[in-house]
Amino acid sequence: MAERQTGESTENLARVRGSRTAELVAAARAGHFARAERPLVIEDPFAIHLAGERWQRVIGSNFRHWLFTRVLLRRVLPTTTYVLIRARFTDDRVLAASEQGVRQLVILGAGFDTFALRYPDRGIKVFEVDLPASGALKRERLAAAGIAVPEHLHFVEVDFERDPLDERLLGAGFDRRAPAFFSWMGVTYYLAPEAVTGTLVQVTDLSAPGSELALDYMNAREGVPAEELPLFDSLLRFVGKHGEPMITHFDPDSVLDRMGLAGAWELLEHEFPAADPGRHLGSRTDLPRVAPLFRMLHLRRT
Ligand SMILES: C[S@@+](CC[C@H](N)C(=O)[O-])C[C@H]1O[C@@H](n2cnc3c(N)ncnc32)[C@H](O)[C@@H]1O
Repeated sequence: MAERQTGESTENLARVRGSRTAELVAAARAGHFARAERPLVIEDPFAIHLAGERWQRVIGSNFRHWLFTRVLLRRVLPTTTYVLIRARFTDDRVLAASEQGVRQLVILGAGFDTFALRYPDRGIKVFEVDLPASGALKRERLAAAGIAVPEHLHFVEVDFERDPLDERLLGAGFDRRAPAFFSWMGVTYYLAPEAVTGTLVQVTDLSAPGSELALDYMNAREGVPAEELPLFDSLLRFVGKHGEPMITHFDPDSVLDRMGLAGAWELLEHEFPAADPGRHLGSRTDLPRVAPLFRMLHLRRT
């Protein structure tokens, strides 16, 4: 069942939206690139330029890095492993779809995503959809780092809680007659349930047959294995306390119905990385255990 995790009002939600989570995600990718054992889960040399000065200082200093990862943020580190997994999961599926001729990528809640910079030669038009403030900060940081916005990258300003995604995307040059890949990672849990379903209705409507969709969602607590519950609860408490509460979750058994995807989309994959980390990380054991908060869906438009 789709439910709000707290009794948060829409006004309160508006206060916590923005670029802070995008910055944390960029910092996770940047820290992995700078410090992790090779081969990497995802190689993102651009993330450091988007993570902001505070995270650049942390990632660049052995002491600060130790302090943040071993002391201050120790409890929330499992989310960083999940962030790497979902980025790799999405990259692989977008690249596979592009091999099949898909030439449009719509990144919903793109934050500081760097796909457009990392894969400039694939002939993929990238639409980065986000709140105006997040897109503006990203452009500012790219400019400060001397990184030009490539021609195939289009910024589309949309608030999923208020604005017409379809009009804005079509206005930015999206072709609804051609198949597209929609990715919606790291966002649904911050939105009210109606904004999740309302956005997906528009995505379905904009999707030509053969389009694909990858998204993630937060598990309902009942869907979490008992041994993972202490970590699940402690992560939720941590993100709630630090001003970015996750408010909407879904039951894995009914998520397709609740999201309004059943019928129009064929389910290709439904992943719970915490339960099967080896599938995503191979035999590496150097990363923190995967946060048991999230599941990922990959679907194809019928
Ligand atoms: C955690 S980041 C996710 C970044 C990226 N998609 C990823 O997978 O790492 C969440 C992004 O969602 C955006 N966002 C949050 N609420 C939104 C809303 N109501 N409308 C549009 N974007 C929103 C934020 O601005 C932020 O960039």
